[in-house]
Amino acid sequence: MWTKNNMPDQTGKIAIVTGGNTGIGYETALALYEAGAHVIIACRDAERATEAIDTMKSTGGKGSLEFGLLNLANLGAIKSFAEYFKQKHQRLNMLINNAGVMMPPASKTDDGFELQFGVNFIGHFALTAHLYPVLKSTAHCRVVSVSSGASTFVDHIDYDNLKLEKPYEEMREYATSKLANVYFASELQRRAQPFSNLMSNAVHPGVVYTELQRHIPKDQLEIAFSKYKKVSDPWQGALPSLFAATSPSASGGAYYGPDGENEQSGYPALSQRITPAMKDESKAAELWNYAEEVTGLKFPY
Ligand SMILES: NC(=O)c1ccc[n+]([C@@H]2O[C@H](COP(=O)([O-])OP(=O)(O)OC[C@H]3O[C@@H](n4cnc5c(N)ncnc54)[C@H](OP(=O)(O)O)[C@@H]3O)[C@@H](O)[C@H]2O)c1
Repeated sequence: MWTKNNMPDQTGKIAIVTGGNTGIGYETALALYEAGAHVIIACRDAERATEAIDTMKSTGGKGSLEFGLLNLANLGAIKSFAEYFKQKHQRLNMLINNAGVMMPPASKTDDGFELQFGVNFIGHFALTAHLYPVLKSTAHCRVVSVSSGASTFVDHIDYDNLKLEKPYEEMREYATSKLANVYFASELQRRAQPFSNLMSNAVHPGVVYTELQRHIPKDQLEIAFSKYKKVSDPWQGALPSLFAATSPSASGGAYYGPDGENEQSGYPALSQRITPAMKDESKAAELWNYAEEVTGLKFPY
């Protein structure tokens, strides 16, 4: 049973946690801070970030904390965050691509992508691309992409519907963004191979009570959650991310999730919730090429 107490000391390590102000991201950032890391809480609301940082500090962790303004729904803002980071830091040991949005009303990012695809995948693709030179020059670094069990709900990326071209199906669009997270993690691992300092993994946290469900009406949420035998608290949902980011036993290109029944909760283990589509390397490469083209960002190999 792997818990955050199994984490090696993180003193001297630098981590970015997107969406670190709440939910699973908060618990991920807190655990890294407690273990000694310098953690950048990358989120879109300065007030919420400051509140989260103050609460984390009250636990007396041995690391340090910093706020970075990051709006993943705007490619220009992502670039600004990366520039801010690169001015202050010369290395990056852990990039936890955690932030996410689920089933919002139909809407688009500032650059015209369906919101879930745009924030959950395109935003993190762009962020990682901007930070890639720093990752590459760091002796050992890990990139963790937080996906979801929902990635199994679709078997392909519908390139004709990434900008809300078709009638909106909120869960299908969420699932597409989460399949994209899995493709991103595995393709990054393959493409970064010449620089074996980088490890890229995908994880899913199981089923966790957080603000992610904010767009689902309360009565519907109660019905949905009543079907699950066990729903985790955010600290437990953070364990797969923490394992992938810090454990000496983690290996690149893997997919980790909780080990309990149907992987709804539990402790980090290799996920069995993998569909043939998730393993399809040609589909992962196709998505990568699409993302490079639409963002205009080529990773600097
Ligand atoms: N909870 C679950 O059961 C579950 C299951 C499977 C996968 N996941 C995944 O786990 C990750 C964390 O989710 P969570 O459950 O912790 O949800 P959460 O509590 O709602 O946290 C999501 C975080 O993402 C941030 N975010 C949303 N849109 C953003 C944007 N445009 N720019 C920057 N940050 C943005 C939120 O910021 P604000 O606070 O400003 O809104 C928040 O910090 C997500 O990727 C989610 O898909 C969660």
